[in-house]
Amino acid sequence: MSGETVKLQLGGLEVELPILVGTEGERVIEIDKLRAMTGYITLDDGYANTGSTTSEITYLDGEKGILRYRGYPIEEIAERCDFTETAYLLIYGELPTAEELETFRKSIRARSLLHEGMKTIFAGFPPDAHPMAILSAVVGALAIYCRDSLDPADPRQREVAIFRMLAKMPTIAAFSYKQSIGQPFIYSQNKLSYCQNFLQMMFAVPSERYEPDPDFVHALNLLLILHADHGQNCSTSTVRMVGSSTVNLFSSVSAGICALWGALHGGANEACINMLEAIHADNDNLGKYIDLAKDPNDDYRLMGFGHRVYKNYDPRAKIIKEVCHGLLEKHSREDPIFELAQELEEVALSDPYFIERRLYPNVDFYSGIIYKIIGIPKQMFTVLFALGRLPGWIAHWREMHLAPGGMRIHRPRQLYTGSAQRKFVPLIKR
Ligand code: SDX
Repeated sequence: MSGETVKLQLGGLEVELPILVGTEGERVIEIDKLRAMTGYITLDDGYANTGSTTSEITYLDGEKGILRYRGYPIEEIAERCDFTETAYLLIYGELPTAEELETFRKSIRARSLLHEGMKTIFAGFPPDAHPMAILSAVVGALAIYCRDSLDPADPRQREVAIFRMLAKMPTIAAFSYKQSIGQPFIYSQNKLSYCQNFLQMMFAVPSERYEPDPDFVHALNLLLILHADHGQNCSTSTVRMVGSSTVNLFSSVSAGICALWGALHGGANEACINMLEAIHADNDNLGKYIDLAKDPNDDYRLMGFGHRVYKNYDPRAKIIKEVCHGLLEKHSREDPIFELAQELEEVALSDPYFIERRLYPNVDFYSGIIYKIIGIPKQMFTVLFALGRLPGWIAHWREMHLAPGGMRIHRPRQLYTGSAQRKFVPLIKR
């Protein structure tokens, strides 16, 4: 609390509202007593001006293009951590010691198998089922098979649920892919790292030895780290909203997966590749699509561009672009989609429409190209985003349950603009 206040005059009434100041000097007006004091509520479509909580997990400054996990710059984390170390930092708040990290990894490895009964769930899905629909459904089913870790108020059940969620998500993701291509499920191998293990569950077959390419393991590790958390984005806010009813972690994450699937959010990586492929198929006619994106009467948007918070270059896009370039060079891949992506970026960033609205490439613009190089099919791109974002969802769910002042169910109000009271009309008279 800063001790500062702001005065609000409403007709003859004047109230003082407290100003809170964040770690980096961000200032907010706390309005939790506004309705009691004035009878008024606020209205903010899409919450662009509204904070839903305080949080100690991730700091982002959209104007300066800054992203920090628990105070550590994303550039350092990306360069010096692996994904499980990053997950530990986000969830528990501190970089782990070597012993803490090994114990954490063992707690995850020990739970990577699914209940054998869950395999029948996959068998019931049609082969063309979207992997995000499968992921949400099977993660939700963990609330059926892991009934001894559903109570978020019980510290032991909460921690076991966290280990199970981190351990089983890669397995469920890989099984959903295997199911879609009619190949046998490949079980996790506990001697492998998180990323090596995921790639072998995705691409190994029982009839041959499989060694994940170290370049692809490194690139996947980086992508998962860069996606690991991002404040109160749509899917994280969904996990908090659903979790605030005290439902279990698995059901909360299942809801977050659904929110992430949307093309305006995590689905943008798949939508971005689809967009680039469509432009390429249309003789690389960039101008036509940029004009479409600028047309106020057309809701076409450049996927992978723009951001609610970043009005500067998304720091994650910067890191991903370099890795993308390096992978293409090293694997001597000519990828017309990557060439087109770079050209689109140059053209868009010199166009007044994008400059005025400060629309830059976001995390989804280049990530799809790296997934393509690794061999991840397009429909799995958002599943990879979910795999990366999982520690963030868990960290926010846990932070909410451990909030010092206790947790309140999320229940926004509204401004009613429908019909005033009117007389009922019986069916025969309508
Ligand atoms: C992610 O929140 C997060 O942190 C998300 C994320 C995370 O890590 O969790 O970073 C991940 O979701 C990244 C965003 C991925 N989505 C896309 O790439 C889809 C394309 N982008 C847009 O749809 C849009 O930019 C959003 C949804 C990302 C942000 O939307 P906002 O903040 O609501 O912006 P807006 O719709 O108010 O747009 C402001 C203006 C509008 O024009 P005007 O009405 O002022 O004339 O910019 C225009 C928009 O039409 N605009 C675009 C555009 N994005 C915004 N015009 C063309 N192409 C675009 N991509």
